Amino acid sequence: MIEDRALDRVWLAGVRSQFPALAQTMNGHPLAYLDNAATTQKPEAVIAAVSDYYRSANANVNRGVHTLGQAATVAYEASRATVGRWIGAAAPEEIVFTKGCTEAVNLVAATWGRRNLGKGDVVLLSHAEHHANIVPWQMAADATGAQVQPVAVDEDGLLDLEDLRRHLIEGSVRLLGLKHVCNALGTVQPVAEAVRLAHEHDALVLLDCAQALAHLAMDVHEIGTDFCTMSAHKAYGPMGIGALYGRFELLDALPPYQGGGDMIRSVRFEKSTYADLPNRLEPGTPHVAGAVGFAKALDWLGGIGVEEADKHERRLATLATAGLGEIPGVRIVGKSKVKVGIVSFVADWAHPHDLGTVLDQHGVAVRVGHHCCMPLMERLAVPATVRASFACYNNEGDVDALLAGVAAAHRIFG
Ligand code: ALA
Repeated sequence: MIEDRALDRVWLAGVRSQFPALAQTMNGHPLAYLDNAATTQKPEAVIAAVSDYYRSANANVNRGVHTLGQAATVAYEASRATVGRWIGAAAPEEIVFTKGCTEAVNLVAATWGRRNLGKGDVVLLSHAEHHANIVPWQMAADATGAQVQPVAVDEDGLLDLEDLRRHLIEGSVRLLGLKHVCNALGTVQPVAEAVRLAHEHDALVLLDCAQALAHLAMDVHEIGTDFCTMSAHKAYGPMGIGALYGRFELLDALPPYQGGGDMIRSVRFEKSTYADLPNRLEPGTPHVAGAVGFAKALDWLGGIGVEEADKHERRLATLATAGLGEIPGVRIVGKSKVKVGIVSFVADWAHPHDLGTVLDQHGVAVRVGHHCCMPLMERLAVPATVRASFACYNNEGDVDALLAGVAAAHRIFG
């Protein structure tokens, strides 16, 4: 056991030293960055991959005959293959690069949704969904006459499988949208079971894997999902790049999402025709450096071990949960047994925003607010929470800083 912890410390020191942003002080304190569910910091390897791309490989893709353009295209397509392998896609063409999860959900809602939904059809979403997996479906429903209905979750944000079954039996459900991991509470949803139930009733499933990507090893075939969405920046990659995975036959049947260069086969004023996958769904110049950085981030995460990282983060979250429990008036929101390293809490003596401000003065970065989950906050009867979210590079010092900051806030407001 002692040896295990010593190995953990060596592992952690090696990981942490790769993140230049963590070496700074904030408001006179060492930075304790606990806002990883909003975005993670970037390791040197990712920063270098993006920088090297611009230094030596930058050219537009899929267009030129020149050698640099071909090298950029090779790098871009290699990145697509890496993302596909990471989630177990059957072919690179099942990966469409997007700006992130939000654009990926919008793409499916605007193409598959508008083409396949009709009056009386239902899109089911868990009550815990992120706004990015609610609003695009409301827009598609408004355009098609379909309805968006919530599936109940419990006090911990955990999907109620019985309520899901009831909705699937009662309605003409075409699609279930579900977050793999709840960004506000950390709850891991029973996705394989939910997918199985949805498929039994001929409904498709879109998994929002924004929070899952950096914490859980994923295999889209094992889970059986039809679509899944990813954002690189939550998994040590660059901002502004992510991906949509879709089963080939589903993606192949989608009409274009946006028109422009590179997504066409031919353009005439009378009529244009469209390219094959994945180009048909990627108009314009793509974020090639982002894609290269995304692939590097996944390779890097694979190198340190996603399961080791998750185990380490959960251990820190358990320490934080125990410490917060000793501060009077503090209540943890979301105590599911199966969680990633996210701790959401409220205090009966201060608003989360005031707590967040005091924590910032102590160098502790957390997110406060509704975490883009207003329906979940309403369900849990809290206006907002303070959320500390852990990444592979956090250490016990970060937990201590969080607890010291909350104790200081208690002395001010309590
Ligand atoms: N969805 C991100 C979060 O949970 C921004 O903070």
